[in-house]
Formats: sequence, structure tokens, C-alpha cells
Amino acid sequence: VEPPLMDSFGRRHNYLRISLTERCNLRCQYCMPAEGVPLSPRSALLSREELLRLARVFVAAGVDKVRLTGGEPTLRPDLADIVRGLREAGVRAVGMTTNGLVLTRRLPALQRAGLSALNVSLDSLRADRYERMARRPGLARVLAGVDLALQLGYSPVKINVVLMKGFNDDEISDFVEYTIDRDVEVRFIEFMPFSGNRWDDSKLVPYRAALAAARARHQLQPGAARPHDTATLWRAAGARGSVGFISSMTQHFCSSCNRLRLTADGNLKVCLFGASEVSLRDAARAGASDAALTSLVRAALRNKKARHAGMQNLARMENRPMILIGG
Ligand code: GTP
Ligand code: 5AD
Ligand code: SF4
Repeated sequence: VEPPLMDSFGRRHNYLRISLTERCNLRCQYCMPAEGVPLSPRSALLSREELLRLARVFVAAGVDKVRLTGGEPTLRPDLADIVRGLREAGVRAVGMTTNGLVLTRRLPALQRAGLSALNVSLDSLRADRYERMARRPGLARVLAGVDLALQLGYSPVKINVVLMKGFNDDEISDFVEYTIDRDVEVRFIEFMPFSGNRWDDSKLVPYRAALAAARARHQLQPGAARPHDTATLWRAAGARGSVGFISSMTQHFCSSCNRLRLTADGNLKVCLFGASEVSLRDAARAGASDAALTSLVRAALRNKKARHAGMQNLARMENRPMILIGG
């Protein structure tokens, strides 16, 4: 057996996030500019065979959890085949982060293919606001998708709420209420800077402020901490579900980071932030062996920083737009 994927700070990497497409059927303001982003030609994206081959290389080095992202992963026609292929490659848990628009149509087949966990982006419970944030309508379809996921036994369904001051921070209590009789984990996420998303710290709702707002109408108790989790968990009194806070900006969780990322065009990113990337696609297309690909990953990991650079630096730093990373 191969040794695990360690960085120079002793963090073991067993979680790979794979972006399946650069396209999306929404245009969320925090994720991309209104005019969209230039897309890579199809030939630049990883084919399913290439993707599964790379996944097997990661699995051999100890990766046992994969999350599929995008763009919007459900736009990928061969999504169910990818999920099945990952499970066959020995991935223990295959999750997906989606905007939820087409779940009512696609989820049953994805579940049969082996999709084990589901995170759904949902930034407002009000249709007009949802549409303003996403620059497209869709709230009712997303809510129906979450209901179906719960019926199908996804437990919990994680709901991602990117908080933006003056936009949706007055809905925090409503989102806590949404956890009372549903097996959901609503995660309030601090707005993070990426290329083209007009970040500034006046739009950020810090964890502490969000927690205070969540306590306005509900009594919250701390939940159990899970290692490597992005979210700090709480539970409202009597609730089936729970509430989490993803405090990437005000209280980063880099010291327990176990994540690697593969972009749709085949670049390895060892951190969500930072422009440094290595093309596993090019190496694979040039005939690299599995061992050579693993060496590339290990070399990239040796350069992984202890933590991200801090929000003011990140706001000035070169990075991809979020739509081309996948979170
Ligand atoms: P789980 O696999 O269920 O733990 O999901 P997750 O929270 O890792 O992933 P998801 O795609 O649902 O992302 C939720 C939020 O966490 C998004 O805003 C992501 O950008 C952010 N996020 C995910 N991974 C990382 C990470 O490694 N570092 C930081 N700083 N943020 C992350
Ligand atoms: N800041 C924080 N979270 C973001 N996401 C997308 N863009 C941002 C941002 N700028 C979240 C979405 C999605 C997840 C993959 O990343 O809510 O659920
Ligand atoms: Fe890991 Fe980078 Fe995220 Fe920190 S910011 S948790 S180092 S991916």
C-alpha cells in the first residue's frame, strides 16, 4: 500500500473535490460576474475516462471521499456514470454540491448509482430574493428537490446559505426555523473573495454576528464537532435538524484541512485559495504512469501553505472565479 497524501504540516489528505463542468444554469452573484466567465473548450475538460483514471490514482493513495462540484454538476450528462465509476473505484463516500434545480428529475438515478451525500445551495427562502441573487428563478424547484432528497433518505441534507449583509442576513431565523422539523443541516457561510465576485468586507456577516442572529428567536446548543468539518455545529431546542457556521474568513479551519481539488480542466489545487495549480490532465495525456501522477500530487502538497493568507490578502490575490473552482 502507498503512504497517505501528507503535506509538510502533517495533514493527511483523503478528501478530493472534483469539478465536473464550468457551466451553470444559475448566475449567483457571489460566484460569478453577470456576464459569465470564459469557458474552456470541451477538449480541455477531463473526459469521464480521464477523470476516473485520476480518481483511481488518488484512491490508491488513500482518498476515500469525493465531492462532485462544478459549475453545476448536474449539467454533466454522464453524472450518474461518474458516480458509479467512483464507487467502483473504491471511493467510500461520493457527495455532490448542487444548486438543486434538477434534483426532482435526476436524484433517484443518482442515488441508485451510489451518490451518498447531498449539499444544496439555497441562499434565500423568498422567491424574489432568490431570483435576484441567482439572476434566475428557481426557489420552488430547489425546495422540492430538498424534500425529495429527505424522502429518499439523505441524512442530513446540507443546505448552504452564503450570507451577505443587507441581502439575506434578515432570514437567519427563518432558516433556523427550517431545521425544526427537517433532517437538514443549514450552514451559514461567510462570503469569500474570488475573482469577479465584488467581495468586500462590508458584505461579510461574521460567524459571531450570524450566531447572535440565529439565537434571536431560538435557543441553540453546541453540536458535536466532527473532524475535518467546515462547519461549527449548533442545534435549536427541539429541532430535528441542525445549524452550522462556515467561518472561513473570521475563524479559518485550515489546521484540519484534508482537501484536494481537481478542476474541470484537470488542474490540481492544493488549496481553495491561491493561483498555484498543476495540470494532471496534461501529464496524463502525455502518458504519465500512475506513479508519476502520484508524485506530482505529492510534490504539489509539499508546497501547501499552513493556512490561507487572510481575507484582506485573499481579496487582492489572484485566483479563479468560484464557478471555475467549485467551492
Ligand atoms: P462536506 O463534505 O459535507 O463537509 O461539505 P463541505 O462543507 O466541505 O462542502 P460544500 O461544497 O458544501 O461547501 C460549503 C462551503 O464550504 C463553501 O462555501 C465552500 O467554498 C466551503 N469550503 C469547502 N471546502 C473548503 C475548504 O477546504 N476551505 C475553505 N476555506 N472553505 C471550504
Ligand atoms: N463565498 C462563500 N461560499 C461560496 N459558495 C460559492 N461562492 C461562494 C463565496 N464567494 C458556496 C456555494 C456552494 C458552495 C460550493 O460554495 O454556496 O454551495
Ligand atoms: Fe484547506 Fe486552503 Fe481551505 Fe484552509 S483555505 S481549509 S488550507 S483548502
